Amino acid sequence: MNRRNFLLGGGALIAFGGAYVLAANSGKLKVDLSKRTALKMPPLLDTTNSGKLNLTAQSGKTAFFENMVSDTIGFNQSYLGPTIRMKNGALQAQVNNELRNPVTVHWHGLLVPGEHDGGPHIPVNSGESWMPQMQINQQPATAFYHTHIHGRTASDVYAGLGGIIHVSDNRDEDRAIPSEYGVDDLTMVIQDRRFTSRGQLSYDLSMMDAMHGFTADTILVNGQVNAVASVPKGIVRLRLINGSNARIYTLSADDDLSLHLIATDGGYLNKPRSIDTLRLSPGERAELLVDFGNGNTMTMISAGDPNTGPGGMMGRVRGMIDNVVDRSFVVMPFVVDDRLPVRFTAVPDQINGDEPDLENQEVAVRQFSLDMNTGSGGMMGGGMMGGGMMSNMGINGQSFEMSRMDLKVKLGTVEKWIVSTSMLAHPFHIHGVAFQVLRENSGQPKPESIGWKDTVVVDSVTEMLVKFEMPASQDNPFMYHCHILEHEDRGMMGQFTVS
Ligand code: C2O
Ligand code: CU
Ligand code: CU
Repeated sequence: MNRRNFLLGGGALIAFGGAYVLAANSGKLKVDLSKRTALKMPPLLDTTNSGKLNLTAQSGKTAFFENMVSDTIGFNQSYLGPTIRMKNGALQAQVNNELRNPVTVHWHGLLVPGEHDGGPHIPVNSGESWMPQMQINQQPATAFYHTHIHGRTASDVYAGLGGIIHVSDNRDEDRAIPSEYGVDDLTMVIQDRRFTSRGQLSYDLSMMDAMHGFTADTILVNGQVNAVASVPKGIVRLRLINGSNARIYTLSADDDLSLHLIATDGGYLNKPRSIDTLRLSPGERAELLVDFGNGNTMTMISAGDPNTGPGGMMGRVRGMIDNVVDRSFVVMPFVVDDRLPVRFTAVPDQINGDEPDLENQEVAVRQFSLDMNTGSGGMMGGGMMGGGMMSNMGINGQSFEMSRMDLKVKLGTVEKWIVSTSMLAHPFHIHGVAFQVLRENSGQPKPESIGWKDTVVVDSVTEMLVKFEMPASQDNPFMYHCHILEHEDRGMMGQFTVS
């Protein structure tokens, strides 16, 4: 162990008024906290009283590094958007678009009908507005809103068009779960980005990037590079959102602290589950409780992305790489600040969340294969050239088409969907539903696949029971797709009606 004392200078932690003397570097990855600034939360947009929500897609400049600005886009700000707090009931949303290109706001994780879903059929053109009158009706959850124009989703989300939603029932106090925004309830949007030497965001897609999905080596949390989170000396809730285009994280704490999983995509689990690692793919959310009661620092790290390896190695070879080279990296260090209020000191035994139990339903079965190449020519041949907009990935041999309806599902039914991949791991996402993962690679689901889900990693075969409770018409259908945004934009997507 290499412990040392240090003085944290510069960043906003200074606002607390003191110098920090800490034991850092307890694990194998070295973190120089003196070079990090305090993690900020996105601004909170609380709609729970007003029942109103206003989002404007706009362009701006963001300084990811000191004295260097990059062109970015965001909602109501220059990069990303506010955290929207909402409760069940009526919500009048207004989405404005000040950008030159069309955008949408898709409410990934909200159970709303197709006409409010904000998918690719609901573009908000430049200078126009969209005003869905929504009804929110679901258990508390962390959701993710982002733009969803077919063919532009990857580049526009990369440039900043995404944000977080907290659906809240104001009863976390009773559950003994922290809920003080930015104090003991931290929202963390994890992204990876590439930058030019002048600190400009770069999205320069090579053929390999298009194929694997675009991954990068600089980690951003809430749009910040090199942040450090300060937490009270007690129970802290972490809402983790993978807002990356393609990178799949395998998160863990680089010391003895255990992670207690309390919620997945669709909200609370029945009871906390203690886990050592958390796999989080693009579009997935998970909530953890961590006990900082011993006052120690914790560094959240991630293992390497399963879809990429040295020299572009992929497919079945990828798992072997990590046995040879440690590709772990730091996601976020946490330091305890005694001055922050401690409200809870123990992880509750029960949360009494709503876990799915769909197993005894009579169901129709559908099969989906996620295909890296649906066109003519080999993988490296005619189809997959450069980073251009090639539409040759697909599902069941067909690349997405806006004008083709792929499935019709009956409203109020449950179906078994069996999704498989023969190459790469793909985060499979379905709009407008929640599902129960039944089996992953013929075994029991991993802890992070328990609970109501809307996105799950498929790395071989995944079986799920999907509950269709929201209607979607021919004009405003729901999507199912790979949430590696480069795959989605290249056609690994389908659409369905529910009626
Ligand atoms: Cu988060 Cu169809 O997307
Ligand atoms: Cu979605
Ligand atoms: Cu994919």
